[in-house]
Amino acid sequence: MLEIWGRNPLQGKVEISGAKNSALVLMAGSLLCPEDCRLSNVPDLVDIRRMIQILTALGAKISKTGNTLDINVREINPTQAPYDLVSQLRASFFAIGALLARFGVVRIPLPGGCAIGARPVELHVKGLQAMGAKVFIDSGIVHAHVQGNKSRLQGAKIYLDYPSVGATETLIMAATLAEGETIIENAAQEPEIVDLANFCCAMGAKIRGAGTNQVIISGVESLHSVDYPVISDRIEAGTFLVAGAITHSEISVCSVVPEHLVPVIAKLEAIGCQVVAESNNCLKLIPGELKATDIETLPYPGFPTDMQAQFMALLSVSEGHSLITETVFENRLRHVAELQRMGANIRVKGNHAMIQGVPALSGAPVMATDLRASAALVLAGLAAQGKTIVRGLHHLDRGYENLEAKLRGLGAKIQRINQKI
Ligand code: EPZ
Repeated sequence: MLEIWGRNPLQGKVEISGAKNSALVLMAGSLLCPEDCRLSNVPDLVDIRRMIQILTALGAKISKTGNTLDINVREINPTQAPYDLVSQLRASFFAIGALLARFGVVRIPLPGGCAIGARPVELHVKGLQAMGAKVFIDSGIVHAHVQGNKSRLQGAKIYLDYPSVGATETLIMAATLAEGETIIENAAQEPEIVDLANFCCAMGAKIRGAGTNQVIISGVESLHSVDYPVISDRIEAGTFLVAGAITHSEISVCSVVPEHLVPVIAKLEAIGCQVVAESNNCLKLIPGELKATDIETLPYPGFPTDMQAQFMALLSVSEGHSLITETVFENRLRHVAELQRMGANIRVKGNHAMIQGVPALSGAPVMATDLRASAALVLAGLAAQGKTIVRGLHHLDRGYENLEAKLRGLGAKIQRINQKI
């Protein structure tokens, strides 16, 4: 558990790590390449280590040196993804597109639901079926293979009912080696999609339009090795900017991509802070009097759902009435109860949270329910009077590399205490 003493001003600069939600999908994408593949700026996270285990179970040879992964996937058996591991890491399901594209057959467990929602995969499955795959689910395992006399997936025109990040990524990977052209309409536009497309193009794929709602992929015969740096994590950067705002501290986040943070910066400025660009890809948060604003989570370039919990902590101590609407996941307001234990004044009705700002939160023992909720509770602890104990760190460790060390580097009074069993 984490012990945090609040109301301690922060100062200085923090280096932002590589993006979890890009690194995981690029690791899946490395299955497309029969030669060596190197990924750098990979964050050291539980989810990354889980993905290494899953790829290794499929036959990959992976060596990790600091934040660099060397991956060799020459010998792969596409039908032995381990059930227990895949069910814990949704991103591993995205490998279905790469495995099907390269081997024409794949068996992969259905990813489980999780705290924030049921997390279905029908958009992935429908897209693969449109590309000529026969897909069926039997006792929790997705079986897929190209059918008939075709040895490869066929290019297709696919319309996504929802701009799903994972489905867009699965289908881009599947289409890189398909026969002919694939057009994905209503595609997700997140920066992680652009990173995947750039990664695949660096391996020789032909992809246009990534980052817009129409992605066009012309299939090629095969791909070649690549050495590729993962983009910076916009959600970690946003989390630290909120840490500055909630503690009324001037801090800088470095090695970031400012244009990936436009919706987050817009909302920090609406609340009363300023965010200014500094040299070598740093952004400085200049705190201000915090006042209420409304937030609705949407697919990119809308406000990111992965920043919703963190902003709820901030709006809990921003003067006035704020309304947060979570439109992306059906059950992503579970941090409300824990913030209420710290004195936040929040009412939930459906997917709306109505927040009345309070002058100060008070430290309390709280339990994290999911990855971003755990970050929100840490942020609330930094602002609260007295001591906060955050339990459920297995959620936090999935998505933040050395969070408490980075916060201590900014002057926060925070330490990890190993729970006595
Ligand atoms: C990715 O999840 C991220 N994970 C999530 O980050 C992020 O919250 C999400 O995109 C939205 O930005 C990774 O990249 C590993 P979706 P993904 O498919 O791909 C529904 C974090 O905290 N849907 O865009 O699973 C789905 O149920 C994590 O880092 C279907 O209905 O997100 C959800 O309601 C959490 N059918 C909505 O779409 C499908 O086939 C958005 O899901 C697929 C999705």
